Amino acid sequence: MFGKRLSLHRDYIIFSALIVVVVVVLLVATSVSIFVSQSRNRNAEYAMQTDIIDRVLTESLDSVSQILRFVGQQIVQTPADVQSITKILKKNAADSKIQTLLSWTVYDWISPQNQILINSTHGILRDPVLSNRSHLSKTNQIQGKLFFSDPNIGLVSKQLVIPAGMGIKNNSGQFIGTINIGILVSELTERIEQALNAKKINFILLSKDNYKIIAESYGNNVPLLNTASFAHELGYIASDEKDSGMLLHPIHYGTREYNYYRDATSYPFIILVGTDEITANAEFWQVTFPRMIEISFMGLFSIILLYYFRKRIVNPIVSLARTAEQISRQQLHVDIPKGNYYEVSLLAEKLEEIQHTKKELTVMQEAEKIARINAEKAQLALKKANASLETKVQKRTAKLQEALNSKDEFLNNMSHEIRIPIGCIMGRAEMLSEDWDMLDNEAKKKELEEIYANSKRLFELLCNLLDLARSKAGKMTYDMEPHDLVQVVKQGIDELEILAVSKGLEIHFENQVVSATVLMDTIRIAQVIRNLLGNAIKFTAGGVLTITLRNAPLKDVDARNVPGIMFILGDQGIGVPEEELGSIFDVFTQSSKTKTRAGGSGLGLSVCREIITAHHGIIWAENNGEGPGSTFSFILPLILQNSPVA
Ligand SMILES: Nc1ncnc2c1ncn2[C@@H]1O[C@H](COP(=O)(O)OP(=O)(O)OP(=O)(O)O)[C@@H](O)[C@H]1O
Ligand SMILES: [Mg+2]
Repeated sequence: MFGKRLSLHRDYIIFSALIVVVVVVLLVATSVSIFVSQSRNRNAEYAMQTDIIDRVLTESLDSVSQILRFVGQQIVQTPADVQSITKILKKNAADSKIQTLLSWTVYDWISPQNQILINSTHGILRDPVLSNRSHLSKTNQIQGKLFFSDPNIGLVSKQLVIPAGMGIKNNSGQFIGTINIGILVSELTERIEQALNAKKINFILLSKDNYKIIAESYGNNVPLLNTASFAHELGYIASDEKDSGMLLHPIHYGTREYNYYRDATSYPFIILVGTDEITANAEFWQVTFPRMIEISFMGLFSIILLYYFRKRIVNPIVSLARTAEQISRQQLHVDIPKGNYYEVSLLAEKLEEIQHTKKELTVMQEAEKIARINAEKAQLALKKANASLETKVQKRTAKLQEALNSKDEFLNNMSHEIRIPIGCIMGRAEMLSEDWDMLDNEAKKKELEEIYANSKRLFELLCNLLDLARSKAGKMTYDMEPHDLVQVVKQGIDELEILAVSKGLEIHFENQVVSATVLMDTIRIAQVIRNLLGNAIKFTAGGVLTITLRNAPLKDVDARNVPGIMFILGDQGIGVPEEELGSIFDVFTQSSKTKTRAGGSGLGLSVCREIITAHHGIIWAENNGEGPGSTFSFILPLILQNSPVA
């Protein structure tokens, strides 16, 4: 039911169109109604006017008839005295009353043989002439009645006259002659027109005998003989309907139109009346035009009123509706049109409030959206942080675990490293004290040497531990002085050569440098060389140990290359697994190859790295590319360039 919504704009167009249609319909209806009413009125008027014409005609011709009858009686009273007849005629002719109606200038007294005996102009004719009036034969038949001939121009008057005549009988009933006169057509039509008192009506008098024109309105003064006959048109009607009234097809004659006809009551005439088109149109427009103006004005006024309402109410409401629609589609920055009327302005104000609220809402929604996005981002970041924290924790835990494991291993190793030499020392010392007397000197010496070796091992272990602890605490002190590295290397070789030889190892030393002066604490560097060489001896079953000194670049703290001297110690021992080459420098860390077999604290290399790092150098291990064994190297900055030192 409400599916199709109404639209103000559409209704405005419909109403405007309706007004135009109504105006057009009203105009047409009014015109038709006026036309019909005028036609109807005209018919009534035609009937009335015809009556008037008939009355005037009857009155006029009756008076003519009376006069002629009177004259006739006079003639009858003195039948032989034509003189007196002439006198009577002349006397009557002088009567101004009837002179206006009759043309007494043309009258005749005519014998039964149609001879003109007396003429109003010429008096008694000595030689009577035959009359040519057509009605004369009829006057013989019915005396005392007027008969007419076709109109013609009077010989004397030179005017259009209707010849009329009346037969006269004497007292014994004998036909004695005819009085003949001419009725002035102009006079007759003037009388009729005066009676009609309305120029707009046209009329024609026709002879009933031959339907020829006897008289015509407006044409009465024209001395022309109208010979037109309407026998065809009126003959048909007259025979068919035998009644008077409206003609189905108006008769056109000249510029005029004749719509109504009727037989004259007392005389053989037909009366035709009508209104010409120009007059009818003028009449029509005279009434219709003001009505049309009225209706058009009302229509125009309605349209103007509608237009005004459209401009003032419909348009603002339509644009408000459009704006509201835009706002509903989130176009929040549109301008809201203002209305002139209070109600429209109120609507605009409320819409503005809605727009404002919506704007605020949008801002809030936007803020909420941003907050949500940020929260999501934060959540994501937190997740990532958690994950990385988790990873870090896992790594740390793994490292911790590793450290714990290292510590456990260290404790195991330490207990092993400490218990064995102490056990050895204690056992041999006990044995010496118990069996002192039974042992020869050689045996005693051997035992004492063993005690010394184990004590030394314990001492070195403790020294390493203490060094490391000091270094980690930043309390290790270095006595730095320029010194020849070759000397220190040779000293180290000397110290450990016996041990190497005892294991069937050879030590080869190759010095490739000219100058090997390094700023160093010789005791500490010697400790490093001892440790590295000790390891090589410890983890090599047999073969050659190669020590090389050569020049090599070194990166300083600013990552610039500085000259350095490189110590390289290659062995042919058990080697280090590739992935453990870095970790063996960590505290308490031993290679997986030696953990169980060779023993040791895993501190030596850590101490070495601490010392070399304190000398701004680097230390690393690598496996030999070809053959067994590994190579341990370090580089120290070279500060002097002198001649090679032997
Ligand atoms: N030349 C080498 N060949 C094979 N493995 C070695 C060599 N040098 C060191 N390693 C490995 O590196 C580990 C660490 O050496 P490090 O000198 O720190 O400890 P250690 O010799 O075991 O004990 P410490 O030196 O404290 O008496 C050794 O246990 C060994 O597994
Ligand atoms: Mg060692």
